[in-house]
Amino acid sequence: MTNAQAISDHWGKGDVYARILEKMALAGLDPATVTVEQLAPVDHFHARGFPATVELADALPIKGGDRLVDIGCGLGGPARYLAKRFLCHVDGLDITAPFVDAANNLSALVGMADAVTCRHGDGQKLPYDNDAFDGGYAQHVTMNVPDRGGFFNEAFRVLKPGAFFALTEHGLGDGGEPHHPVPWSDDGSGAYLMRPADTVAALEDAGFINIETTDTGEKYLQGYRAAIELAAKGQAPVFGVHILLGDRAPQIVQNAARNIEEGRTHPVQIICYKPG
Ligand SMILES: C[S@@+](CC[C@H](N)C(=O)[O-])C[C@H]1O[C@@H](n2cnc3c(N)ncnc32)[C@H](O)[C@@H]1O
Repeated sequence: MTNAQAISDHWGKGDVYARILEKMALAGLDPATVTVEQLAPVDHFHARGFPATVELADALPIKGGDRLVDIGCGLGGPARYLAKRFLCHVDGLDITAPFVDAANNLSALVGMADAVTCRHGDGQKLPYDNDAFDGGYAQHVTMNVPDRGGFFNEAFRVLKPGAFFALTEHGLGDGGEPHHPVPWSDDGSGAYLMRPADTVAALEDAGFINIETTDTGEKYLQGYRAAIELAAKGQAPVFGVHILLGDRAPQIVQNAARNIEEGRTHPVQIICYKPG
């Protein structure tokens, strides 16, 4: 099995869209009338979910009519949110084919198939022209990317001069090997965490400038603790990311929190620019 296939299998096997429809029905959501906002508990598949996407969007200079690229778009929730909020177009790309299928079906469901186009592919080799996009982002993707330099070079290549590039990830901390399973790996395989300073150096090597790094660990911890508390009270929502994380979701969330508390991971949000 290739590394790409192993990473894809880790994130989503089988008919992910059918699983989402099944849980929507259990949660009382009608596919004929469901909204972008109602999908958010599942399709913003990263630490803190929807609020983290909104905060990232608030910090980005996106304009109406822009064309953006979402590298590692998952189910396309962030892409649909940005396209709807800013009236822009988003091209999404993801290495997990069942996620791409679900992303395109969900976009069609909410009438956004023209605004968000997702395709299957690897962020280390983007199928787009040079200087094609006004901005790009990768939310919680790079933990699985072995060739970080290649990934950043490709992002740089497809962005127009002056475009932004935003990245959120769990960087490597100084507290020792992360506990597993975590969302991006069951046992450490397929995980390529880097210290934030090394990520910044790799972005600089790719040519990015004005690199701003924000520590997001404390906010992620609050999000994980809230989820752990709800689960302990038996009040976890029917329609949530456990649909994607599977049976080990409680342990995965506990480990993600513990890794931050013990300094084993160091989550960051990074925003930078291609020189104009
Ligand atoms: C935690 S999910 C985040 C999904 C989406 N960015 C979001 O925030 O909702 C990680 C995603 O990264 C994707 N991924 C991992 N490695 C990738 C690569 N080399 N190229 C493209 N996508 C990748 C996975 O398939 C998965 O959908």
